[in-house]
Amino acid sequence: MKKALCLLLCLAMVVSMLTACGSSSSGNKVGVSMPTKSLQRWNQDGSNMKEQLEKKGYEVDLQFADGTADNQVNQLENMISNGCKVLVIASIDGNSLGTVLATAKEKGVKVIAYDRLIMNTDAVTYYATFDNFMVGVKQGQYIEDQLGLKSNAGPFNIELIAGSPDDNNAHIFFEGAMSVLKKYIDNGTLVVKSGQTSFEQVATQDWKTDNAQSRFEALIASNYADGTQLDAVMASNDSTALGVANALANSYNGKYPILTGQDCDIANVKNMINGKQSMSIFKDTRDLAAKTTEMVDAILKGGEPPINNTTDYDNGKFIVPSYLCEPVFADVNNYEKLLVESGYYKAEELK
Ligand code: BGC
Repeated sequence: MKKALCLLLCLAMVVSMLTACGSSSSGNKVGVSMPTKSLQRWNQDGSNMKEQLEKKGYEVDLQFADGTADNQVNQLENMISNGCKVLVIASIDGNSLGTVLATAKEKGVKVIAYDRLIMNTDAVTYYATFDNFMVGVKQGQYIEDQLGLKSNAGPFNIELIAGSPDDNNAHIFFEGAMSVLKKYIDNGTLVVKSGQTSFEQVATQDWKTDNAQSRFEALIASNYADGTQLDAVMASNDSTALGVANALANSYNGKYPILTGQDCDIANVKNMINGKQSMSIFKDTRDLAAKTTEMVDAILKGGEPPINNTTDYDNGKFIVPSYLCEPVFADVNNYEKLLVESGYYKAEELK
């Protein structure tokens, strides 16, 4: 009798352990979808997210989508059918996820837009990003300061290069930069010799270095090949800044212009150290991962998500509750403190 009772108890324990395991592995799985491995920052974002979510006990399915929107949709479909309860998505094309996210919503899967807003869907719960407008403002202000525009110096020649039209961020970065620079262009203090000043004219499909480089080679050939000085280039991020730096190295002979960027990618920090890029915006992806992890926690364990903006990020369907981390500017004077002392990079990586 005693033996039978013990057997029964043991059986009950095993069954309860098995159900607990089953529910924890499916109840606690988070899909993290990053756009591409080919840009340094997304590799860092992906590994930070994985590390921080795993520390909190979540099971993580991390996928990179090779820069193609269709591939990202397939990966998301798999995450949903494999039982992910939350999807953290840095989208490739912010407008192409409506259908797959409708399926997510039907199945009760929650979605966090990571870094880039996902447009025209009501299936997004939260948005975690950096203050994208401020990124552009800081790039514009850097040029304003370096050229002494506030004290009426000039005129100076400037060219502009922005990001990919399918990325909502690209538009906001550009608006932020132009909120500082446009008045100087309008009053003739800044001259854009190519005449290319609208977002459409200066955008770079897929943020690709090669696309940036070929546009700049053509632009230099038609406007600056005769020795005309190019004083500044407002580049929205590091992959485009790299294209500009390559084009300058190949076909420009004047004094090196001020060149902005964003992300503090290793190649660009090296360019900063070597005087080939003036500044970059540092977005500490560890902070973004921490805020996103808090959002996941709030969704799956309950509690208040971190939200500090409920006015600015309208995705076409509704204003998505957002958390905006603060971007800071980095240049040759402060990069060691910001990037090396903070443990973001090892000193050897920048040599
Ligand atoms: C990100 C930038 C990045 C760019 C290209 C943007 O959405 O916010 O940090 O440089 O995409 O990948």
